[in-house]
Amino acid sequence: MSFQARRALFPVSTEIVDGHDHPGLAIGGCALTALAAEYGTPLYLYDQATLAAAVDAYRRALAEAYPAGGEITYAGKAGLNLALAQWMDRQGVWLDCTGAGELYVAQVAGVDRSRVLVHGVAKTAADLQAAVRQAGTIVVDNLDELRRLVDLAAAAPSDPPFPDLWLRILPGLAVDTHAFRQTGQEDSKFGMDAATARQAVALCLRHALPLTGVHFHQGSHFHDPTPIGPAIEMVLDLVAALRDEFDWTPAHLSPGGGWGVAYHEDDLPQPAVEAYVGFVAEALTAGCEQRGLPLPVLHVEPGRSLVARAGVALYRVRAVKRTATRRWLLLDGGMADNIRPALYGARYSASPVTDPLRPDAGPAWLAGPYCESGDILAKDLPMPAMETDELIAVPVSGAYQIAMSSNYNGARKPAVLWLKAGRAHVIQRRQAVADLIARDEPLPSD
Ligand code: LLP
Repeated sequence: MSFQARRALFPVSTEIVDGHDHPGLAIGGCALTALAAEYGTPLYLYDQATLAAAVDAYRRALAEAYPAGGEITYAGKAGLNLALAQWMDRQGVWLDCTGAGELYVAQVAGVDRSRVLVHGVAKTAADLQAAVRQAGTIVVDNLDELRRLVDLAAAAPSDPPFPDLWLRILPGLAVDTHAFRQTGQEDSKFGMDAATARQAVALCLRHALPLTGVHFHQGSHFHDPTPIGPAIEMVLDLVAALRDEFDWTPAHLSPGGGWGVAYHEDDLPQPAVEAYVGFVAEALTAGCEQRGLPLPVLHVEPGRSLVARAGVALYRVRAVKRTATRRWLLLDGGMADNIRPALYGARYSASPVTDPLRPDAGPAWLAGPYCESGDILAKDLPMPAMETDELIAVPVSGAYQIAMSSNYNGARKPAVLWLKAGRAHVIQRRQAVADLIARDEPLPSD
């Protein structure tokens, strides 16, 4: 399996450049061997050009397919730090924050309040207070939350204005993905059914709350948009009933996020954003027309498909081992920075950084250093012969890896670099060992 077959998994700016002795991978004009030497491994990289291409693809697809205007909201849960929040804000992309923690990042990043949207299935008082102060939109998950918002609205000052409220609807149908990532099914903990949504609208109108939208999200990392069709039908039936009963219609509608990406060469080609946005836009336009509903602004809410391909994880081979039937490449990172293979059975690919075009030497198992046999990043992956101290790049590492990383076995969270036009900027420093005890206090002395 040559690197060329995996090329489309890597960032758009990836090239093979001449190194000191050997050709090697470069991203954003930066040679990966030099980055690893300077910043150490494991190391996470984000390529600005790939991020820009992803935002652009969504923007163009919305403009082409949907006549009433669309917005992109980045689901910050896929990975959030000051630089990413700032960059998205500069592109005019909205930011979806889950709770007070992510809202704090958005605030320090200086994200425009009008573009901050808040999600959460069990928002705390602190989450809601922060949302009322710092967000332009709150997506209400349930009636208990809405009752607390009624109280907060009664006590809120007029400036800043109280955030717009959208209702999260449970459509009763999930997309095809791993069970842990399905959210739209009937018994899901997320959102409210049609009867509850009717009560929520009545409550909002009674208290003159700024209810402006409806939202649903059926799950994450799907490649087939078909289940979105019946969900849009269900939501528009509800909207038509709300119009008839309350003379209320939503100015905004969001079908959430969830469009998938290719992680492994077997998944290629990369799923086209145009196919997904086109499907949603057509179903929404036709459904509104059938019911005589005004077209809402269409908000798409991608996480993974905006950032995954822009990210690459860089590891160093710390040992090479052969067991009865396997060739192991033992790396200096694994499940502490990428829990996805262990949690979802996610399948990743990889390439050597130096001489990436050299021939394969059969399958390899890429494992991390942690004390679990489940700490495997890639199984049965065709790889060249590799030696200790060589570098390995794992593509499609920009989503839900750093965001779900841990300090297991005393692992320090990796440094994150932003690559742009031949320059690398540290956007998150590697944790120091002192960070591991930063929250600790010594044993009480009685
Ligand atoms: N909107 C809502 C309300 C969501 O809950 C999510 C993801 C998204 C948007 C963005 O979905 P995306 O476009 O990234 O698929 N840890 C899992 C993914 C969990 C997704 C949670 N919600 C993974 O590593 O695959």
